[in-house]
Formats: sequence, C-alpha cells, structure tokens
Amino acid sequence: MDSMIKLTIQADAPKGTISRNLYGQFSEHLGRCIYEGIWVGEDSPIPNTDGIRNDVIEALKQASVPVLRWPGGCFADEYHWKDGVGPAHERPRMINNNWGGVEENNHFGTHEFLRLCELIGAEPYISGNLGSGTVQEMQQWVEYMTFDGTSPMADWRKRNGREEPWKVTYFGVGNENWSCGGNMRPEYYADEYRRYATYVRNYSGNRIYKIACGPNEDNYRWTEVLMREAGAYMDGLSMHYYTLQTGDWKDKGEAVGFSDQEWFVTLKRTLHMEELIVKHSAIMDRYDPDKKVALIVDEWGTWYNVEPGTNPGFLYQQNTMRDALVAGINLNLFHRHCERVRMTNIAQVVNVLQAMILTEGSRMLLTPTYHVFEMYKVHQDAEWLPVAFDSPAYKFGDEEIPQLSVSASKDAQGKVHLSVCNLSHKDGAEFRTDITGFEAVTASGRLLSAERLDAHNTFDSPETIKPVVLEGIVLADGTLSFRLPPASVAVITLEQ
Ligand code: AHR
Repeated sequence: MDSMIKLTIQADAPKGTISRNLYGQFSEHLGRCIYEGIWVGEDSPIPNTDGIRNDVIEALKQASVPVLRWPGGCFADEYHWKDGVGPAHERPRMINNNWGGVEENNHFGTHEFLRLCELIGAEPYISGNLGSGTVQEMQQWVEYMTFDGTSPMADWRKRNGREEPWKVTYFGVGNENWSCGGNMRPEYYADEYRRYATYVRNYSGNRIYKIACGPNEDNYRWTEVLMREAGAYMDGLSMHYYTLQTGDWKDKGEAVGFSDQEWFVTLKRTLHMEELIVKHSAIMDRYDPDKKVALIVDEWGTWYNVEPGTNPGFLYQQNTMRDALVAGINLNLFHRHCERVRMTNIAQVVNVLQAMILTEGSRMLLTPTYHVFEMYKVHQDAEWLPVAFDSPAYKFGDEEIPQLSVSASKDAQGKVHLSVCNLSHKDGAEFRTDITGFEAVTASGRLLSAERLDAHNTFDSPETIKPVVLEGIVLADGTLSFRLPPASVAVITLEQ
C-alpha cells in the first residue's frame, strides 16, 4: 500500500554547506582493495595508467570522489612509508598482520597513491603510523611529500622521480588507537597525539589539516577526553561506526539472501548513526562551541560475513539494494549534520566491505552503493535546505522506524536537489512537495530500485541494478508530485 506524504522544501532557508568531502572514500592495503582492485602494475594486460587500472580510474572520476583515505585502517599503524618508495624491486616486503597474514610487497606506496589521487581528481587523506612508528618517521613523511626546496627528504623524493612537492591537506595521526592502533587509553593517546601532531609540519605553504583518532561508536568518554586534552591541537576528530546486521561480530549475517526482517534491522541499525553524531557533537560543542573541529566519520558502511569461499581476512562482500539504502540514509544524515560533520569515508572503495566497485580479473562492476554516490553527487558543496515532513512509520513486528529518509540542497547554479530513500520493503510512497522561495519550472529525477531486496550486480550481469529515469514526475502550480516504489532511492532536480 502506498503512503501519502507532504513535503515542504525550504529553499529560502539554507543552513550550511554540504562539504564535498562527505562523499570521501577509503582505500586500505586489505584483501584485493589496492592489489588487483586498483593497482595491477604497468606490465599488466589489464589496461592501466602508470599501473593503475583505467576502468577503476574512469568510474571514480565519474562519481566525483573528493577525497581518498590511505593506507589504512589498521594497516596504517604497521605501515612504514620508507619501505614503499624507490625502485619497486628493491622495496622490502612485510606481513600484512591485520588482513590475512599475506605478504605485502610495497609496490603501491606514496608515489603510486598520490598518482591515483591525481588521476581521479581526489585530495589525499594520509593516515600516519602512531601505533608502531616513530615521531621522526611521521615528520619525515610529511617533509618527503610537501617540502619544496632542498632537504634530505625532498631530495630523496626527487631522486625517486618526483620533482615538485605534492599538496597534501588531510593527515590522520593514528587510526583506532583504542584497538589495533596500540590499545591505548584516551588519556595516553591524547598525549601521544599532541606529541606526534607537533611534528606534522606545514612546509612550503602546504597547510596540514590534522585529524585525531576519535571514538568507536558510542565511546563518549574517548571523545570527552580527546576534546578536553587535545581539542586545541586538532582540526578534525574521527569516528567509526559500521552497520552490523546482527550486532554480533562473530556472525555478521549474509550480504545476500537475507530475510525481510534482516532488511528492516539493518536499516534500523543504520539510523543509529544519527544518535552517535548528535551525542558526540554535543560533547564537542562543550569544548568547541564555534565548531572549529570537524567530526570526521572516516569509516562507515555495512560489514557482513565474507562471500563464501573467500579469504576471511579479505572482507570481500556482495552489495545489494539494501546497501544502496544504507548509503542513501547515511548520506542524508551527514547532510543534516553538515555543520559539524565535514568529511566521511565509506569503507571501502574497491573489493572490501561496502564497496563502490568489485573486480574479478579484468572485469569490473559498479555496485548499488556506487550508483547512490553517483546520483547524490549533485549535493556536493551545495547549501543544505531544511525539509518539513512527517514520515509514516515503517513497522516490523513490535518495532518501527521512519519509512523515509530525505535531504535537499541548492547548488551554485541555483538548482534544487531532493534525495529520498523509501526504506519500506513492501510499501510505496506518493509525494506532494511544495518549495518555498523557489519557482520550479522543470523537474527530472533518477531512480534506483529493484524487483528483489537482495538484487545485486554480478560479473555476468553487471547492470541488474542501475539508475533509470524516474517516470511520472508532475509539476503543477508549484507543487511537485511523484511516486517511489518500495525499497528505492531517488534524486530529483528542480530548475527555475
Ligand atoms: O575497514 C576495515 C577495518 O575496520 C579498518 O582497518 C579498521 O580501522 C576498522 O576496524
């Protein structure tokens, strides 16, 4: 049965900018993300540019990826960057202790990552090693990348083939230091953060935006201590929250073949992101009422059991219409909190967790999550607009959540964009939408939906799910009418 919903977009009351960096990505040396997924090497039969797959470059350019985090994750706090520069065959090998115990040959290092960023037009976000690296090592990495002139590290960079320094803005001083990054207490990490961050220097006009390791999920004490002891020394505080269908890390549930109830629970757990943002922001507000420090959700997304038959340490999972809803809901939430949340990085970009892209040999497919990011990119750097509406309840057994997740923005060209997720697995939704302060003349929309809740793209059928034109949009007397099927995501654009 269809629900009837009245929306009012307040186009005359913008409330802050939706930073493009809310659409950031994360690439870790984990499973087949970097090797195979991004890096195939210059001699590969897979078409590549300087060793980086062309199909992946094109897809990421098309999605307008603004910022890319690397090299981890947990990998970052065991990564020694000097092992990843210079002639590839001379680079030392290491064990990837966190992810499957496989050999890491260091063929993808600083030069290769920054080349990838150049090719896709993204800003780099480097995660430094605080857990097992030295202060000197971190200082020298920044010098190597950004110093313009003569210095030991800049001269080494030049000998390795890069004359000009790179522009590197975002630098994380450790990752998950409450766990894989050293099992530290917040008091200890806060002091370590202050010490390491001191030597993360601004060279040659490059201004580093320093990001401290923040809390896991609802660890509010971590946020309290970090803001109190180190808030004055950081530009951003990270936060991690993954959507776990079961809530049980030992058995996380399946990526495909799930029940209606598992669909519902997954979306309910996704909505928990808002409570986390609100409560961490409230703590930050006490120490930083001017919102100088951003909350950076630099790991989020679904985490299921791995695909049967794949290496459990590689975190390879399929991606269905349910993941599209998880992406759309989270992005709408991030928009709403854009005054404090100014960067996020979904985990991860290729072949790991809630990926944008999956690869198999020379083949590549775009996931439903990718399509949401590509559809939603119109919101990047636009002004967030409030939307008034009463969402009908989406009930399952004794539980209920809102049926709809909605967000609107106005871009620099004056176009208004509305993104809507219909969470219900069984009910459609009909909309009547008024827009205050905006005379819409044309309206067009794109829709992502599927016959099955667990519909997904495969290498043999890579376009099972892709955006189509949203049919049936009517604009009459300033009111926009449209209908969404169950379990769908749409983006509508209005022009004056
Ligand atoms: O994204 C996978 C892992 O999840 C990251 O390496 C780590 O930071 C988090 O626990």
